Amino acid sequence: GLSSTPELFKKAVAGGYAIPAYNFNNLEQMQAIIQACVETKSPVILQVSAGARKYANATLLRNMAKGAVEYAKELGYEIPVVLHLDHGDTFELCKDCIDNGFSSVMIDGSHHSYEENVALTSKVVEYAHAHGVAVEGELGVLAGVEDDVVAEESTYTRPEEVEDFVKRTGVDSLAISIGTSHGAHKFTPEQCTKNEDGVLVPPPLKFDILEEIEKRIPGFPIVLHGSSSVPQEHVATINEFGGALKAAIGIPEDQLRQAAKSAVCKINIDSDGRLAMTAAVRKVMAENPGEFDPRKYLGPARDILKDLYMQKNINVLGSAEKA
Ligand code: G3H
Ligand code: 13P
Ligand code: ZN
Repeated sequence: GLSSTPELFKKAVAGGYAIPAYNFNNLEQMQAIIQACVETKSPVILQVSAGARKYANATLLRNMAKGAVEYAKELGYEIPVVLHLDHGDTFELCKDCIDNGFSSVMIDGSHHSYEENVALTSKVVEYAHAHGVAVEGELGVLAGVEDDVVAEESTYTRPEEVEDFVKRTGVDSLAISIGTSHGAHKFTPEQCTKNEDGVLVPPPLKFDILEEIEKRIPGFPIVLHGSSSVPQEHVATINEFGGALKAAIGIPEDQLRQAAKSAVCKINIDSDGRLAMTAAVRKVMAENPGEFDPRKYLGPARDILKDLYMQKNINVLGSAEKA
């Protein structure tokens, strides 16, 4: 069956790598994730957002994820598969997922006041733990778009709050804000500097804050949201074949590599997959205007997505060969 996170996180923190948390909304994304993680022998967290449930139907997504365990075996290697609710915003949503077999949920109370966040998170933890499900909480606000919530500016996690939050809520892992954000436009070109090759380099993550957090809750599992790197080759392909993506800038891979070596043991990536799929679909559509079989464009999109996830596991998160 589905795996739960505490054991996986413990190993990841000790081993200096991070488990990939990839979002999925449809069959092809799920296939690409499982194929990539089986081939690289990596544990994986399949994430479902509220938006994904709205788009694809909660029952279908959940059963696809349960089927993924068997699918991995069929592909030849058994990997731990976690089914996780991404950015749960209410107790009711978390409860629904817990009641329906999710092995992990996130309650994101980061947009509330500190005390409200503590209260909401505690309530979810109490219910989740009674049902053997682990909970991810969040402290600090990421800039960018999360479903319908748009935060203009990020508020970094305050290290002086983490110990109290973790103790009072009983969460199993903590998402923090140290300079990442959601979406494909994490930085403006003005916020970046140019390196010797003329490549835009965004400001580094706040590793000082991460270190301060680790001092206060040593070895506690930390989660990084908003960790897409926004591969420029996919942005270029999208724009070459009719797209119009301006100033799409992500988190450089070396920053994520560094984070994965710390207590950061879960790294969330969604936008990179969206870009890879869109690039593939645009290219096939442009080059084969007579094509109308969805398999002929979703198939190549799935293959590119699989490559992307394999590269992440091997070269960025360090999760390859850890399953
Ligand atoms: O945090 C946001 C994730 O990328 C999920 O996005 O809410 O559009 O499904 P979504
Ligand atoms: P990206 O938009 O950077 O892929 O972040 C995804 C995420 O944090 C999902 O929770
Ligand atoms: Zn997120």
